[in-house]
Amino acid sequence: PRTIYLTRHGESCHNRQGKIGGDSDLSDKGWNYARTLGDFIKTQRIRDLKVWTSWMKRTIQTASYIEAPQERWKALNEIDAGICEEMTYEEIEAKHPEEFRNRDLDKFHYRYPRGESYEDLVARLEPVIMELERQKNVLVIGHQAVLRCLLAYFLDRTADQLPYIEVPLHTIIKLTPVAYGCKMEEIHMPI
Ligand code: F6P
Repeated sequence: PRTIYLTRHGESCHNRQGKIGGDSDLSDKGWNYARTLGDFIKTQRIRDLKVWTSWMKRTIQTASYIEAPQERWKALNEIDAGICEEMTYEEIEAKHPEEFRNRDLDKFHYRYPRGESYEDLVARLEPVIMELERQKNVLVIGHQAVLRCLLAYFLDRTADQLPYIEVPLHTIIKLTPVAYGCKMEEIHMPI
């Protein structure tokens, strides 16, 4: 039996400021998580583990203390918020009130102007999911929206539920196959 491990990157500088998107570095706290994650993975002695990250600095930095082969997937990059990239939710509400409202009305289908929707993300992640299905033990270091899509697939959640699945920072989610579907376990790391 194999396990899929999912985690978000450690806290980034944009996370600290409440800004979405972008390609910022980890904060000091985020770097602490990277080290804690490296230690944790080592103690688990996971057979033939592979680590998958996105192309963004924050996931690559989070992986930097893990001793295992790594692959970078552009398809794992965070949702592209288009004209709203690198803004806080407050700024979006003030500058683009209609966009802000529309997203709240149908978060799964809402597409940021010049960006993506969760629906787009699900399509972009299809090859990643296909490959994940063929693999043994994998740790995916991803982003909030991306991990919601992966979790919805493995845990059979609806499109309505998907954009609201909770994926906290500094938490490792373990998915193991059971008779039907997957068992989920969450491990909160003390940071
Ligand atoms: O705030 C972190 C983040 O990963 C953003 O980059 C992204 O736009 C957002 O979360 C996705 O969450 P939501 O769909 O709830 O805005």
